[in-house]
Amino acid sequence: MSGSASEADLRIRFERYDDRTQPARILPRYRATQRRNPAAAPLDFAPGLGEIAGPVFDPDLLRPGENDLAAAAGGGRRALGQLIHLSGRVLDEDGRPVRRSLVELWQANGAGRYRHDADENSAPLDPDFIGVGRTMTDDEGRYVFRTIKPGAYPVPDSGNWWRPPHLHFSLFGTSWMSRLVTQMFFPGEPLNAHDHILNAVPDAAARERLVCRVAENPLLPEPALGFAFDIVLRGRAETPWIPG
Ligand SMILES: [Fe+2]
Repeated sequence: MSGSASEADLRIRFERYDDRTQPARILPRYRATQRRNPAAAPLDFAPGLGEIAGPVFDPDLLRPGENDLAAAAGGGRRALGQLIHLSGRVLDEDGRPVRRSLVELWQANGAGRYRHDADENSAPLDPDFIGVGRTMTDDEGRYVFRTIKPGAYPVPDSGNWWRPPHLHFSLFGTSWMSRLVTQMFFPGEPLNAHDHILNAVPDAAARERLVCRVAENPLLPEPALGFAFDIVLRGRAETPWIPG
């Protein structure tokens, strides 16, 4: 195969995003988007080795229990809030499982407060909740987290816009081209319809891909609400990017 042919193959495989499936890059009521996004149109270039290669993570990197945010504070008590069991699969554009994908999760506590110096919300911190966790997908692309459902919170300097309950995700796929940072929303939340971030994705079907579905409540030692969220890295059915 000639060099130009393989370049063409890569260009097909890594098509540019359809902008209707992605949020507007700059949101007037979301300060961070103005700092994080370029004002000029992106350049188009053929991906090379730097783009089609990616990091490979050793499963030994993870400590046991890192996917249990409800107990990760280590004090012997679980976090305050509604216990949830979230499971799903990480898939590529052809529906194949993405194995050994590092899945990182961060979120507000049950009162809508992040354990972060930059969080200006007056809601209380929970000493039994840190709000970060991570795991790695198995051979079927499956992942599992146990956590609590986060609360809604107001966005500073936004005219009292409240974010609906949501989880932040970061994923590494098979290459830098399949890296994804996004947010997951819960079904049936009244604030979803008013969220300036979720609704910055113009395409309704793409917005739906950011909402988890109700799943069977698992038989754990403690009752938990079950939710399922499949994440697609790249391709037509890609889970949209939602920056953290
Ligand atoms: Fe958030």
